[in-house]
Amino acid sequence: MDFNTLVVPKAGLARVSADTLMLVLVGAEPKDHAAALEAPLAEALSAALDDGELQAKSGQAVMLHRVVGVKARRLVLAIAADSSAKAWRKALSAGLALVKGGGTSKLVVAAVGEIAAQPAAQALAAAVSEATYLYRHTKPSAPPASKLASVSLIVAKADEAVAKAGLARGIAIASGVDLARELANLPGNHCTPSTLAAAAQQIGKEHGVKVQVLERKDCEKLGMGSFLAVAQGSAEPCKFIVAQYLGGAKKERPIVLVGKGITFDTGGISLKPGAEMDEMKFDMGGAASVLGALKAVAAAKARVNLVVLVPATENMPGGRAVKPGDVVTSMSGKTIEILNTDAEGRLILCDALTYAERFEPAAVVDVATLTGACVIALGHHRSGLFSADEALAAELLAAGDAALDPAWRMPLDDEYDEGLKSNFADMGNIGGRAGGAITAAMFLKRFTAKLRWAHLDIAGTAWKSGAAKGATGRPVGLLAEFVFARAR
Ligand code: BES
Ligand code: MN
Ligand code: ZN
Repeated sequence: MDFNTLVVPKAGLARVSADTLMLVLVGAEPKDHAAALEAPLAEALSAALDDGELQAKSGQAVMLHRVVGVKARRLVLAIAADSSAKAWRKALSAGLALVKGGGTSKLVVAAVGEIAAQPAAQALAAAVSEATYLYRHTKPSAPPASKLASVSLIVAKADEAVAKAGLARGIAIASGVDLARELANLPGNHCTPSTLAAAAQQIGKEHGVKVQVLERKDCEKLGMGSFLAVAQGSAEPCKFIVAQYLGGAKKERPIVLVGKGITFDTGGISLKPGAEMDEMKFDMGGAASVLGALKAVAAAKARVNLVVLVPATENMPGGRAVKPGDVVTSMSGKTIEILNTDAEGRLILCDALTYAERFEPAAVVDVATLTGACVIALGHHRSGLFSADEALAAELLAAGDAALDPAWRMPLDDEYDEGLKSNFADMGNIGGRAGGAITAAMFLKRFTAKLRWAHLDIAGTAWKSGAAKGATGRPVGLLAEFVFARAR
C-alpha cells in the first residue's frame, strides 16, 4: 500500500483525480459543510442528507457514483460528529467499508472541517490497514480483501510535514498490528513456539534487532522451573525469546515488554471443556502484541531501548504433564503449588519477570490473555491494567486513549493476595473464583519487588468471537504509543 499526502488542489476537490474521493465531514451539522464545498460536491451532500441516504450521525457513510461535475468516479461522504481522533477513525472505517470491496485502486481522502493533521494521518494509515487485512495463510482461496493500492490524504501546505510524520508512524504501527493479527490467527499447528521464535528472528533480520532464543536446556540452567513445568507436557519444544532493540543511548535503561506465548492452551491436566476450545490458539496474543510493538518501534527507528521477552510453550495434558498439587521452584527461588494447571499463564510469566531483572529496566509491562474473569469484568472494549505505580499506570492509560486501544485500571490491594496462600509452597497458583483477574495479577506482583511493573490482561480484547472470529492486533497500538512517548 502506498500512502502519501496531497496539498489541497487549486482547482478544488471536485477536480481531484481518483477512483474514489472520500470526504469526511468533521463536526458541526453536516449540512453546514455544504457552504464550504464546490457546487457539485455541495449539491451531492445536500441531496444525500435530504433523501435520507446519509444520516447526520457519527460513523455514517454513503457512496455515490459518477456525480456530475466530480472527476472521481466515486464519492464517499462520511460523518465524524466531532474533531476527536475517535470520531475521525470511526468515520474512516465506515467509509472504507464501502470502498474496500469495490474497484477502488486509488483513494483520496479529505477532511471537511477542522482536524489535527498528524493524528488524522496516523489514524488514516491505521484504518486502511485494519480494513484491508485478510487472513489467508491456511485459506489461500480467500479472495483478496481489496484492490486498494494507493491512499492520499489532502492537507494544507503548512500541515504537510506533520501529516507525513503521522502517516509514517501510522504505517509503522500498522505493520506491527498486522503481524500480531497474523500470528494470533494462525492455528496452533501452524504457530508453535518455534514459529514465534522465527517471527522474532525475522524482525531481527529486517530491522537490526538482536534476537536470542533460549532452548529448554538453557531455561533449565537458569532455573525456570515454573515455565518448564508448563512446557513439560508438550511434545512441541518450548522457546524463551529474548529480543533487544537498541535505538536509545547505550546506558539508557530499556523498557521491557513481556508477552504470554501459550500457542495452545488445553488447560493441561485441569482440562478445559470442549466448547470454543479452538479459541485457545489465541492464547499467544500477548506474545504476538509485544512482537508487533517491537516491529513498530524498530520500523520507526524510535530512539529508545526496548527488550521483548516471550516465554513460549503449549499447555498440554499427557503422561509427562505437570499435575495439580505438584510443587515447582520458580527462577526467583519461590516455590509454587500448582493447584490448577489451567492457570498456566502466570506460571510462565513469573519466570520471565524474574529474567527481566537482568536488564535493569526503566519499566516492565507484561501482556497476557490471562483470565476469563477479566472478560467478565471489562468485556471486550477495554483491556485490564494493573500497576501499583501511579505514574506508569497513567502513562499506559494515556497511551491507550491516544491509540484508541483503551485500558481500564484495576485494583491491587494486598487483601486480594489472601487466596494465594498454600500449606505446601510459598504460594498456590490460583486464588478462588472471585476477582479472578485481580488474584492472577497479585500472583504476578509477587515477582516484581525489584521492578517498576504493570500488567495488561487482554483476554477480552485480543480477539473477537462469533462470525467475525479473529485476532484484533490489540494492544499493539497502546504499547507502541507508550514506547514512542518515552523515546527521545
Ligand atoms: N488462557 C486462559 C484465559 C482465558 C480464558 C482467556 C478465556 C480468554 C478466554 C488462561 O490460561 C486460563 O485458563 N485461566 C483460567 C484461570 C483459572 C484456572 C484460575 C480461567 O480464566 O479460567
Ligand atoms: Mn489456561
Ligand atoms: Zn492460558
